[in-house]
Amino acid sequence: MAANSNEVIEMLKHSYSMEIETVMNYLANSINLDGVRAEEIKNRLAADVNEELGHAMQLGNRIKQLGGQVPGSLDVTLSQKHLQPPADTTDVVGVIRAVIEAEQAAIDQYKKIIRATEGDDYVTQDLCVKLLADEEQHLILFKGFLKEYAKES
Ligand SMILES: [Fe+2]
Ligand SMILES: [Fe+2]
Repeated sequence: MAANSNEVIEMLKHSYSMEIETVMNYLANSINLDGVRAEEIKNRLAADVNEELGHAMQLGNRIKQLGGQVPGSLDVTLSQKHLQPPADTTDVVGVIRAVIEAEQAAIDQYKKIIRATEGDDYVTQDLCVKLLADEEQHLILFKGFLKEYAKES
């Protein structure tokens, strides 16, 4: 059965929080990492900051259209322990693994919304399918980085 619109708004807010937290952690990691091996990952994370922020903006607009309110900083739920910048600023592999985990979590949440809106809220569903496609691309890219970087270390 399709979720009611309040449930959909809550799920969208959860995705919104995840995107905002991802922005914070990709930004921090894109600046903090050190070393030759880190350069490519830093550049990629810096580019992703803008993409993830774009996701948050689209989710926010949909929350508003459904009659909800976009949460402020005190109302977002933060939980990405694995994505905290490592004490060892050359731990590129650790960051890549954490990014993979974050992308997988985003994918799981979008799939949940896609299922919950089936047969009812096609606009939200369409948005989440598009965002899902972006996250799958990020996931595949970082899985590729892991193959190479895990071999080298
Ligand atoms: Fe995203
Ligand atoms: Fe992503």
